[in-house]
Amino acid sequence: MTTTAAAPYTFWLAGRPAAGAESFEVTNPWDGSLVARVGVPSRAQVEEAVAAAAAVQREFAATPAHVRASALDHVAKRLAERAEEIARLITAENGKPVKWSRAEVGRAVSVFRWAAEEARRFNGGQAQRLDTDPGGVGRLALTRRFGRGPVLGIAPFNFPLNLVAHKVAPAIAVGAPIILKPAPATPLSALVLGEILAEAGGLPAGAWSVLPVPNDEMPALVQDPRLPVISFTGSDTVGHAIRDSVPRKHVTLELGGNAAAVVLADWSSERDLEWASTRIATFANYQGGQSCISVQRVIADASVYDALVEKVVAKVRAQVTGDPADDATDVGPLVNEAAAERVAHWVDDAVAKGAKLLTGGERDGAGYAPTVLADLPDDAILARAEAFGPVLSLHRVNGADEAFAAVNDSRYGLQTGVFTHDIQLAFRAHRELEVGGVIIGDAPSYRADQMPYGGVKDSGTGREGVKYAMEDYTYERVLVLTGLDL
Ligand code: SIN
Repeated sequence: MTTTAAAPYTFWLAGRPAAGAESFEVTNPWDGSLVARVGVPSRAQVEEAVAAAAAVQREFAATPAHVRASALDHVAKRLAERAEEIARLITAENGKPVKWSRAEVGRAVSVFRWAAEEARRFNGGQAQRLDTDPGGVGRLALTRRFGRGPVLGIAPFNFPLNLVAHKVAPAIAVGAPIILKPAPATPLSALVLGEILAEAGGLPAGAWSVLPVPNDEMPALVQDPRLPVISFTGSDTVGHAIRDSVPRKHVTLELGGNAAAVVLADWSSERDLEWASTRIATFANYQGGQSCISVQRVIADASVYDALVEKVVAKVRAQVTGDPADDATDVGPLVNEAAAERVAHWVDDAVAKGAKLLTGGERDGAGYAPTVLADLPDDAILARAEAFGPVLSLHRVNGADEAFAAVNDSRYGLQTGVFTHDIQLAFRAHRELEVGGVIIGDAPSYRADQMPYGGVKDSGTGREGVKYAMEDYTYERVLVLTGLDL
């Protein structure tokens, strides 16, 4: 292990452990206790990692698929073996209830397993005949994908392991060097991932680094021309500032959302409403609502609204709040007290402007009670902003036209859940909703890690999902063969 109570965590510089001259503290959002100290890389160490990534680019790209795949398989295996320990670490650094931390580790195992499989199938090449015109007779086009160059991955605090996995695993799968910068509040699980990658062996030095670079030192790294690809997950403000500052780089942005769960008129049986209300109450509050696809808005047809709301409010009240290390806890603290204060301010603003508070609305340190609002006025901050907290607003509509218009009345567009049995309405939702993903029969928060994931509008650009990120990190280059006897 890389730490003791006294010794700061080491970070990972070009695949080897390195100590920082200075360190910072990671504290537990639940009780403020010190979880660990982490070394801060110096500018010289960051420079060494970037230079190593640039230097190893060709060698890494040429690494045989079996070497990359077996390193990825190793990570999947070791994450599974160390799942409980890592889940506890995520809970300590992030405040996420341990049952959700376990789910996160399970998902990261799957990301690395998928990446190993995709590495084996990637880039077999695609042949295309060119003799469709007289000038192409005897010619054949062969298309393969090649790396755009070293990747700068910038990860958020809300899934400190799995959203790191979504940046690192596809980079290794395509043989693109990566410099990964974890969130300052939650670097520990990413550093353990580094430890597991280091044991894997087989990857050239410089292929990967995990550097907890302070946020105020990031602009220089973002500007560095040796890192032509940036994969960022975080707030839209920071994401857009990054993209605007480097318009010539290939930047993918996974930003926020104010995801809606739509409940249409045909979703009306007791069983239907039980399922929808359970999923809504759970996924409005999982990890304190700190997910870009947590349910923030419920848009329900007037014919089912009252029955649904009664169930949703009861199930939100039944969410167990408390110590995130306790197996029974559904909702722990937010990542810090400032986050809870922001949510409290936004709920107070909504209530002052006329919203009805059906449950919740109280803050206790970094904790915020699961909250349901009805009649949210249009001028409330929460009507437009991403809550990123355990807050749900309820909206009554008449019919699918109004429901879909309400979903699209947002500057965000990440995922939407649509509860309907009607296959035509499902296809219509797929056609008309301005989002990156439509989930039929469930909350918008459903995500399988191999599927394309990302947004439109202010929710970002580019797609994660292992294969899709691999495509983002590479580009197609065609080889035309001439004079062939085909
Ligand atoms: C996110 O918050 O963007 C990630 C959600 C997830 O991976 O489930």
